[in-house]
Amino acid sequence: MLQGPVAIILAAGHGKRMRSERAKVLHEVCGRPMIRYVVEAARGAGAKTIIVIVGYGADQVRAALAEEPDIHFATQERQLGTGDAVRAARTLLEGYDGPALVLVGDEPLIRPEPLADLLERREVEDAACLLGTAIVDDAMGFGRILRDGAGRFMRIVEERDCTLEERAIREVNPSCYAFKLPGLWDALDQLGTGNVQGEYYLTDAPELLLKMDRKVIALACLEPDDILGVNTRQHLALANASLQGRIQTRLMDLGVSIIDPRNTYIDGRATIGPDTTIFPFSVITGTVRIGSGCKVGPFAHLRDGTVLDDGVEVGAFVEVNRSHLEAGAVARHLAYLGDAQVGSKVNVGAGVITANFDGKVKSTTIVGQGAFLGSGAILIAPVSVGERAVVGAGAVVTKNHDVEAGQTVVGVPARPAPIPDGVKP
Ligand code: UD1
Ligand code: MG
Repeated sequence: MLQGPVAIILAAGHGKRMRSERAKVLHEVCGRPMIRYVVEAARGAGAKTIIVIVGYGADQVRAALAEEPDIHFATQERQLGTGDAVRAARTLLEGYDGPALVLVGDEPLIRPEPLADLLERREVEDAACLLGTAIVDDAMGFGRILRDGAGRFMRIVEERDCTLEERAIREVNPSCYAFKLPGLWDALDQLGTGNVQGEYYLTDAPELLLKMDRKVIALACLEPDDILGVNTRQHLALANASLQGRIQTRLMDLGVSIIDPRNTYIDGRATIGPDTTIFPFSVITGTVRIGSGCKVGPFAHLRDGTVLDDGVEVGAFVEVNRSHLEAGAVARHLAYLGDAQVGSKVNVGAGVITANFDGKVKSTTIVGQGAFLGSGAILIAPVSVGERAVVGAGAVVTKNHDVEAGQTVVGVPARPAPIPDGVKP
């Protein structure tokens, strides 16, 4: 028997308005597919069992969730509407008696707290349906909430089916429901397709429950910022901006300075220590770990798998990919470090490049602590430069021709520098 509360997340639609080959819920917001945020929020709200309804691009949606433990999938064969999508979970939930959150996979900004609220209020009220709503300035695209003169919920009407008066309503349906099962199935059995789109609308279920004398409550417990539904590329851009704002706010709360938030992009998986400053036009993608007291940018690009220890400086037009820079290492201008291990206090001069890809394989460059890489040096991997070694400006260190500790190499290909007369080696 599945453990409750259950969350049913609708993700079977194509999302035609995105004009994409990809299933809509796979479009990324701040580096991760939208559906993952919804799954996380559902779990955070206390859902013990997650059922994702798949259909269009089902294999890709499953693959995108492969890292998430314990997800059940149910297939909606044909996309006949949101109500029909929920019905696809019925077989899996045979015999289940308990609460179910029903959410849509295209609202990546939904937070766990209001969903936990929904579950709790449904329980307290012993309602057949607790519908979360939000009051918004711009209701465009949302279903509207209709209430009677006493303020009691009556029904949801889809924007396409709205009269002009109904269109003016600013209380909307974010598609965040807490239902009691098995009661919901009785309502879904009665869904019809008498609407503009000819689909089985989940939005008719609360009204049908009311008609069966079941308790339905609509509670305006969601914030406009939580419910941004992504139906178009414009919405996707808004969702990115909004989530980016949350990511940066959290980092600033932890002591990170972000000089120009609007011209900075930081992946939600990045961790950054206090007293680190991120200068404008920097882009941090993937899982990047940055220590404290670092300087990043302007115009730096830190990519997945990069680790900067405390006090590292990565400046203008420096790209760092899958590399580890130890404490106090500095790469201030125009460099590419890929698959590199850079020791503490290494100076990476302007224009230094680790040539990590020979067209077939990627190889590693190791630079020992205190080494000095002169301007424009190229290190062809695999290769290592020993501690406190010096690579002269413009030198090309060829692969497997390791530079020993303390050695100075110059030229193309790099070779030990001639020792001037009278200087002891
Ligand atoms: C839906 C609601 C609308 C609400 C809005 C909030 C309905 C009829 N309308 O509209 O009241 O304001 O969400 O964001 O429910 N899906 C399926 N199978 C289908 C159709 C859709 O799984 O047959 C999935 C989609 O993948 C998507 C979600 O359900 O994740 C919502 O579908 P979408 O077409 O975006 O509905 P909206 O028009 O946004
Ligand atoms: Mg939608």
